[in-house]
Amino acid sequence: MHPAIINQPASLLNASLYLPGDKSVSHRAVFISAISKGKTRVNNFLFSEDSLATIDAFCKLGVKIKLDKSSKRAVIFGKGLHGLSKPKTPIHIEESGTTYRILAGILSGQEFTSFLTAGKALSKRPMRRITEPLRLMGAEIKSKIKNIKSKIEEYPPLKIKGGNLKAITYKIPVASAQVKSAILFAGLYAKGMTKVIEPLKTRDHTERMLKLFGANIKEKGKEITLTQHSLVSPGIIYIPADISSAAFFIVLASLLPGSDLIIKSLGINPTRAGLISKLKEMGAKIELRKENRDFFEPMADARVKSAALHGTTIKCMEIPLIIDELPIFMVAASLAKGKTVIEGAQELRVKETDRINSMQVNLKKMGANIRVKKKGSDECIEIIGVDRLKGACVKSFGDHRTAMSMVIAGLLAQGRTCLDDTGCIDKSFPGFIGILKHLLGRYCITAKE
Ligand code: S3P
Repeated sequence: MHPAIINQPASLLNASLYLPGDKSVSHRAVFISAISKGKTRVNNFLFSEDSLATIDAFCKLGVKIKLDKSSKRAVIFGKGLHGLSKPKTPIHIEESGTTYRILAGILSGQEFTSFLTAGKALSKRPMRRITEPLRLMGAEIKSKIKNIKSKIEEYPPLKIKGGNLKAITYKIPVASAQVKSAILFAGLYAKGMTKVIEPLKTRDHTERMLKLFGANIKEKGKEITLTQHSLVSPGIIYIPADISSAAFFIVLASLLPGSDLIIKSLGINPTRAGLISKLKEMGAKIELRKENRDFFEPMADARVKSAALHGTTIKCMEIPLIIDELPIFMVAASLAKGKTVIEGAQELRVKETDRINSMQVNLKKMGANIRVKKKGSDECIEIIGVDRLKGACVKSFGDHRTAMSMVIAGLLAQGRTCLDDTGCIDKSFPGFIGILKHLLGRYCITAKE
């Protein structure tokens, strides 16, 4: 455990920042490069626990990967679609849900049996959403089955006997980019045309990168079709800064009076940029400059100036566009004038922790006015803004995004906040505490960097 003490900053947030590469895009850069022909140099690769879990998994599958942390570069020597080798031991994924679920799709296409094990928290996250479609495609998958509240669910570890897949048309019951990607990757190995239909549009990094590598993939609204095709490396990929990491600085700069912050080369993929549009609706001053939408992942420099925020509503259909930013969005809503409603937020219950619970418990301790309403299986969060949050003792619940959100809440609160653990932040954003100390002064936060 690495506890932290957080104090209100004396200085303003005035800076120009380069932030680490996008986690979702970094994962996909490894997945796709590994099964392509040729060498791929991935610049601004994210060196975090989760993305390194993906690297580790592909090393076990016989892929040569060279890492240079100081220049934030990964070089992947692709093996082609059929070049992965049977791992000698089970592949242990630690806590990376994206690695686990998407890799299950790739392993379903392999002519060998593999075992996927997971860390403590990931072992409690649902897997039926991927095992069901992958079995329909022909993979033989064994899992740990539990009957919870008379609902059957499946959990890690998984034993996957792949190969000989057939294409399916699949209506995904839950809006999930991980599920969509697992099916698309399996589709690369399946006979016929694989078609996935999403209930709501989710992040499309897999589709964009597969196209860059020459895959035969087409999108029409929420329908994506793909047929077998070999992949060829474009040679070099640049990963834009992660909007999910930038989110903490965007909210802080918006709410810390007098701030003026520039975030360089930020990923602004429309399937990820819900936080920016929602904050703008709430009155935030966010300006995108040097927009480059021709790049395979759109990028821009974002300038954020402080502004008074007011409440808004996030509709169910907008949830996937802001899913990982909802914890920090709840902090912003707690300090925005009036009422904010977040509809259809129940997927937050099955993230690294139950983020509805973690954020509600913590923000209530800090004086926020937040409640959750149930409408059948739908859950709606209502927040009435307060003038000030007050410092309190809060918990990370072992979840990186809860921890970072509470650090930001602490910086915006009156009085001192203590947070039980910042170690979990390394899952997505090692260096987060260091950047804050550098920007706001060392006394603002006492914690291990
Ligand atoms: C991710 C998809 C989302 C997101 C996760 C990363 C991805 O999960 O919450 O942090 O990289 O595909 P779901 O697919 O479960 O919605």
